[in-house]
Amino acid sequence: MIGSSLVKTPYGRFASTTWGPSMPIRQGWLVMEAPALPAFWGTLGVSPHLASPLAIAGGVIWTIHYLNRALYFPLTMRARPDGRMAVMVAGMGSGVATVHAWLYASWLGRLAPDVTWASLATPGFVLGAVTWALGFALITSSESILRNLRPPGDTRYHIPQGGGFRWVSSPHYLGEILAWLGLMVATGAPGGLFVLCVTLGNLVPRAAATHAWYKSTFSDYPASRRALVPFVW
Ligand SMILES: NC(=O)c1ccc[n+]([C@@H]2O[C@H](COP(=O)([O-])OP(=O)(O)OC[C@H]3O[C@@H](n4cnc5c(N)ncnc54)[C@H](OP(=O)(O)O)[C@@H]3O)[C@@H](O)[C@H]2O)c1
Repeated sequence: MIGSSLVKTPYGRFASTTWGPSMPIRQGWLVMEAPALPAFWGTLGVSPHLASPLAIAGGVIWTIHYLNRALYFPLTMRARPDGRMAVMVAGMGSGVATVHAWLYASWLGRLAPDVTWASLATPGFVLGAVTWALGFALITSSESILRNLRPPGDTRYHIPQGGGFRWVSSPHYLGEILAWLGLMVATGAPGGLFVLCVTLGNLVPRAAATHAWYKSTFSDYPASRRALVPFVW
């Protein structure tokens, strides 16, 4: 996705006509994210360390994450008929997602030390993998709550309840940040810092904008709910 610090990337509730032509949002997500899967496996699949434990563990985690982001999320979203994404966002996002996939695959399959299964069980790997798992659980549970807010045919926005929404307005964004932080720590991938920075640049301003939007749209919005970090912000 575009690293858009201070800009609300124009899709969904923040869609805008000032970013040029747009496309249906479901197709936009597929165009933006799906190319990362062949980019990742096209790189890792021909790498010398393909069978190394780090490549297997990191490859499985990355692929689970991306199957949700690139396929399950867009194919199951309750898209509004007029839901749009700017073509520029989809195109630039696709480029960034492909670079991201190539960086992780190159590290896992070629550049990282070829460790044994036993030496993989370091505190760093375990801490990182647990952080990714917690983040991923937060993403999928929050996306499920959002998906089920709209009965078929409904196009309105509602106040999400339960799960991570008890504490923050965008728990799926918090989960995304935790997940990429976790994978970076687990694999030691230098390119993971690029992925984390892009994620923060996208999601911190969007979380702020989303929180402000909820508060101005719903007079009964829970006052104790924060934007992104429970009890803090
Ligand atoms: N790594 C990155 O850089 C990055 C960047 C962006 C997103 N992501 C991830 O991609 C996922 C989707 O992000 P997003 O920005 O599209 O999330 P979002 O704005 O919360 O929208 C997710 C889906 O839920 C619907 N929705 C949201 N709030 C709703 C409400 N109050 N009532 C009814 N439906 C609601 C949206 O419909 P509408 O489309 O109609 O609004 C959309 O279908 C998230 O998990 C996020 O973490 C990652």
